[in-house]
Parts: sequence; structure tokens; C-alpha cells
Amino acid sequence: MTNMKHIGKLFKISLPGKTADKIALAISELDNNGYIEFLLILPHKTKTHNKVIPIPHGILKTESVLDITNKQILNCSVINKEIGEVESSFLEKVLRKIISNYTACYYNSVHASGKKAEFIPGKSKIPYAGRIFDEKEIIELVNSSLDFWLTAGKYANKFEKKLADFLGVKYCSLTNSGSSANLLAFMALTSHKLGDKRIKKGDEILTVAAGFPTTITPVIQFGAVPVFVDVTLPYYNIDCTKLKEEFCKKHNLWLIEDNCDALGSKYLHNKKWKYTGTFGHIATSSFYPPHHITMGEGGAVYTNDPLLKLIVESLRDWGRDCWCTSGHDNTCSKRFKWQMGDLPYGYDHKYIYSHFGYNLKATDMQAAIGCIQLEKLPDFIKARQRNWKLLKEGLHDLSETFILPEPTPSSDPSWFGFMLTLKDNTSFTRDEIVKHLESNGIQTRMLFAGNIIKHPCFDEMRKNKTGYRIAGDLINTDKIMNNTFWIGVYPGLERNRIEFIIETIKKFRCID
Ligand SMILES: Cc1ncc(COP(=O)(O)O)c(C=O)c1O
Repeated sequence: MTNMKHIGKLFKISLPGKTADKIALAISELDNNGYIEFLLILPHKTKTHNKVIPIPHGILKTESVLDITNKQILNCSVINKEIGEVESSFLEKVLRKIISNYTACYYNSVHASGKKAEFIPGKSKIPYAGRIFDEKEIIELVNSSLDFWLTAGKYANKFEKKLADFLGVKYCSLTNSGSSANLLAFMALTSHKLGDKRIKKGDEILTVAAGFPTTITPVIQFGAVPVFVDVTLPYYNIDCTKLKEEFCKKHNLWLIEDNCDALGSKYLHNKKWKYTGTFGHIATSSFYPPHHITMGEGGAVYTNDPLLKLIVESLRDWGRDCWCTSGHDNTCSKRFKWQMGDLPYGYDHKYIYSHFGYNLKATDMQAAIGCIQLEKLPDFIKARQRNWKLLKEGLHDLSETFILPEPTPSSDPSWFGFMLTLKDNTSFTRDEIVKHLESNGIQTRMLFAGNIIKHPCFDEMRKNKTGYRIAGDLINTDKIMNNTFWIGVYPGLERNRIEFIIETIKKFRCID
């Protein structure tokens, strides 16, 4: 009995104190004390909840089910006889269901209980952002880890398709961060495959200094020249009216949208609402935890252009020419029949490199979390909009003190945060109010770099006056650097927290 395989086998067993024999599926091997874990088989329809799995036809004489919560650890002496064995795919399904069930229990007792903590004004933290998840994300993460595919695979493909469908774009490529997505989006436009249209060293790239550094990092590292234009207030964005499709066409420009902080925002375009990230040639997202959806670390590049998609994925996947996904070979059906570069005919296409690339892929575990988060994105967007509106209504009478944020005309933002800029001549400084809020547990953030040109990474370039240009002036950008901060609107903020934020701002030196 001890050397025999038990797991996956069906046994007739006699339970202590019961006269009739039962049928049970062994879901473990014998332990050192001779005990086995069994799931009892029940007649069909005894139970119908989602913890019940039907036994496939043909194994037992009558239709039966098993209940994954009805687990018994019994001594092997209860076994009367072996009556069959389930297929490994069925056993896998059963084991996964048990694991998912325990994962949900884990979530409920470890994570969910913490979320119910009472809000104590002034003591409880009010973060500017955070992961919003429930057991579904953890179950899918565990499920993908059980696959042990590890690299990008079926979950990555599913996520790419789902995000592309949500946005209404043709192609989406998953990456390991928003910064990687920015690197790929920019470098794709430098590809030799674009011929004369490609960006060359020394070319100028219009962008903003009031933003996130990795939007411009690839530009500088490649040797193109960022040309910084000011942003407008109270929109905190480049003057978009000047950046219409027609403008890009007229001046033969590429348009890259860093959509990392705006997923789900829309603009009215030709009488139709269109998501940001779908106006330009190529766009990016970040799925780092404070963003609209998260997978821990993650990002995406999206485009409608099949050539750009091909280039992005080549650069993302080591620079290779081959487009087979991880673990697959010969998708082109002529793996050993290519003639490229100066290579011998038939050199394995898998190892032919058409770009100097990177490896910026994400894993299936990240993508699995992302797939569940994407299902929740419409509700996340609504919650961000609701919280932003509550803050706007609550603070509307402070317009003498602050420049209050406004949506850009013809836009419907999926807000990342609630931006406040001190008006000139207020009786206090940005740092004073920020300290006041932080000391009351309210987390604040700057508009990232404020003015990226003033940072140490620009010291040499600033000193030598090379490598970048400023078009006009950066008056608003500097104002943002000195006078702006923002607070959260993320879906985890409930009304009482928002009310406390409003109250705390108003109480500061009795602004109200
Ligand atoms: C506008 C913008 N672009 C890019 C990024 C970089 O994303 P990641 O942190 O995923 O690299 C961020 C990050 O917050 C961002 O705000």
C-alpha cells in the first residue's frame, strides 16, 4: 500500500460509524502516519454551488459531483478497493479549485480585514494612490504561477487583446514598465524600417518639462533634442489645440502620447469621444501601483500601425526579427529559409537581429493581475471622477487662494489626482500647506519633476547649454515647480476621507 500511487485515484471507502461505503477521490499521497486527503463523491445535484465539480462521464456508473470543501483526512485503512482513476486534467482542475478556495480565504482573512480598519481623522493615512484589488487578482496570480510559464504567455496575450479592445486600437504590446514602454515607443520611431520618416540624432522633439523624467530619457539618450514648451494652467498640459492630428500631418511630425497617467480619459474628436492614447501614432501606459490599473510593475505600448507594432516588439524582444511569441517556433513557416543582412542563407530566423534591442517583456504573472484589473477599469474611472468632483465641489470657494483644476475643454478625464496651485501672493507657501496636510496623514505629491531642466540630471546640459532647447518661456512650468502639489482621487478613497481632506485644507490658517 505505501509504495502505491494514490493521488487521482477513486476508492471505495468505509467511513467510521457509517454503514454504507462511500466513493472518494484521493488528493494526496500517504503521509508518514498512513493518512491520505480525500474528497468525498456525492450524488449529482446534492449540491450545486461553485465549489462543486461534476465528475466526468464514464468514470462512475452514476452522475456524481465532488465538493472541494468536503475534504477528509483519513487513515488508509478506510480503503476497501480502488475503483478507477481520474484524468490528470481533471485532477489539475480539482487541485486548482482547492488552491483558489484557500487563496480566497487567505485574502479575506489577511488583506480584506485590514481594509475594514476604522478611519480616524488626523491619524489614519490618506494615501494619494494605492492598489485596489480583491481575491480575484490574487487567485489569477496564483493560477498563472501554477502554470509556471514564468515569461510572457497566454495571460500576456489576453491582456494585450483586452487593453487593445478597451481602447479601440489594433495593437497593444505588454512591457515591464511604463518607462520601458516610453523607451520602446520612442526608439521604435528611430527604426531604419521607417526609412526617411525615422527620427534621427539631433532631431527636435517637442515635449514638456513639467512631467515625468522617463518621457524624455529615451530622447536624450538617443541624441535627439527635447524642445520644452510651457504648459497651460489650470490644465497642466501642453496647449493641445496646437497638437491636433492635422498639425502633425502638416508638419510631418510623429505624435507619441505618454498616456501613463490618463488611462480611460477621453477627448471629443469629430463629434466622437476617443480615448487618450489613440490620437497619436503610438502611446504608452504604466501599471505601477498608483496608476489607474496595476500589475505591480508593468506597462504597454499601443498603436494602430502594424509596422510600429512589429518594430516595438522586435525592440522589446532582444531586437530580433522573428516574431514568434515565447516558447513558440516557426510561426513564419520559413524559419530556416530567410536571407538577411550578410548572414548565410537559412540562418535560424529566431536568432536574426534587425534592431539593437532590449528585453522589456513582462511576465504572465503580472499580466494575470492586469487581466482582472482591466475588468474593473470602468468602475475605477468612475470612482476617480466621483472623488475629483467631490474635491472640486468641496474646495470651489477657495479659488482666491488656489488655482483649482479644470478639465481641458472637450475632454472627459480619468483623473490621476487633484492638482492645487497656490495663487501669487498667498500668505503661506506650498511647503507649509504640504507639511500641514502630511502631518494630518494626508499624502501629497508634486507634479513629478516640476521642471525637469532644474534637476541634477540636467546639470551638465544646463551648464553647457547643449542637448535641449526651450521654446518661449516656462513660466507656468516654474510656477508648478514652486507652487503646485496634488492629492489623491484613487478609488480607495471613501467620502469621509475626501471630506476630511477638504476640511483640513480649509482649516489651514483658516483659509476659508
Ligand atoms: C507620465 C508618466 N510616464 C511614465 C511613467 C513611468 O512609469 P513606470 O513607473 O511604470 O516606469 C510614469 C510613472 O508614474 C508617469 O507618470
